[in-house]
Amino acid sequence: MSLERRQLPKWSELKPLLRTKPVELNATERRLSRAFTINDLRSIARRRTPRSVFDYTDGAAEQEVSLYRARQLFHNLEFNPSILRDVGELDTTTSMLGRPSALPFAFAPTGFTRMMNHEGERAVARVAQRHGIPYALSTLGTTSIEDVAAAAPTGRNWFQLYVWRDRAAGEDLMKRAKAAGYEALILTVDAPVAGARLRDLRNGFSIPPALTLKTIADGALHPSWWINLLTTPPLTFASLHAWQGTVADLMNSLFDPTMTIADLDWVRAFWDGPLILKGIQTVDDARRVVDAGADAVVLSNHGGRQLDRAPVPLRLLPDVVAAVGDRAEIWLDTGIMSGADIVAAQALGAKATMVGRAYLYGLMAGGERGVDRAAEILTKEIRRTMQLLGVRTVGELEPRHVNLP
Ligand SMILES: Cc1cc2nc3c(=O)[nH]c(=O)nc-3n(C[C@H](O)[C@H](O)[C@H](O)COP(=O)(O)O)c2cc1C
Repeated sequence: MSLERRQLPKWSELKPLLRTKPVELNATERRLSRAFTINDLRSIARRRTPRSVFDYTDGAAEQEVSLYRARQLFHNLEFNPSILRDVGELDTTTSMLGRPSALPFAFAPTGFTRMMNHEGERAVARVAQRHGIPYALSTLGTTSIEDVAAAAPTGRNWFQLYVWRDRAAGEDLMKRAKAAGYEALILTVDAPVAGARLRDLRNGFSIPPALTLKTIADGALHPSWWINLLTTPPLTFASLHAWQGTVADLMNSLFDPTMTIADLDWVRAFWDGPLILKGIQTVDDARRVVDAGADAVVLSNHGGRQLDRAPVPLRLLPDVVAAVGDRAEIWLDTGIMSGADIVAAQALGAKATMVGRAYLYGLMAGGERGVDRAAEILTKEIRRTMQLLGVRTVGELEPRHVNLP
């Protein structure tokens, strides 16, 4: 039996322990305040969005091995911290295309963003502008080039292009992006044909989402999503007219599978600004596109949505940096789910990174405020990881800070 004396707690002792939190009346804020990681945002997104839309965003190609392996490599790597370095002051700025970016990541181009949440590309562009990072509008975006520029007039807006069968349509997009003041063009080169997004096929997912018995039943669980979809302008996309069919059919009908490296000359004829080549997956190809004049290269397997069992970009990174890092900026995407992932990529030599799903989960979880929350989470994680590693600037991150398994 304990010999300690017991007593009834006094009110004066209890009072300081009681902490009443102000009640958050805004339901979105309340929801988002419970998200501490990108995975938390993903869980909220899953509950808030019809199954087929969530799966279109969350899913990848075939067996989804490319995405799984990319995330696993981030998960399994080991950090080597340095201790007793003054990390009181921190600078997360990096340079992208020779200009400062407040954080070492940009928002990657993603198609059909207004379908995930009706606030769509404008919201993403505004958040990027607020956080001082670039945003790339996709060829398959659902807001026009001009409307995105108007929403984020002082943002670093980039335009992502696929090589079109109809060259005149591609030329028109480049001219419009230039006229609207876009800073850079991203040419995505890993999609000569669409990857097999099996979740979309199984869900019977089409653009725009069709009203079938299945989607109506699912829609009953997500009424606000449907109301928002049906009461905002139809889901045509940035560049084109409406489409009725799967995303894969759409990509196959629009994009040119015969494109070669010679097509860079075509792009160069209409775009004289910075050119970023996205979807590079071997050292040889990195060399080829840098020889052909790319200013930056994005090591990416399209978030695992194209070739399955593709190289893991993080694994490829050190060799590409060694081969061409002195001639072009080497960036990386695919599988980034935390700020620590971004820090690891920087340490292994990436000049910057791009995130896709990370901000889309935020968008689905809570529109513009959700994208903000995603950016806040990544920022906090980047800062904390840098401090725990004992570095004060992004430039101090080195390969010695990371062991790859
Ligand atoms: C829903 C969705 C749509 C995408 N659409 C495009 C696109 O239109 N053009 C493009 O170049 N990449 C597209 N991507 C790929 C992203 O730009 C980026 O490479 C990828 O999301 C990075 O992987 P992460 O989602 O793991 O961050 C898309 C990705 C997702 C998730």
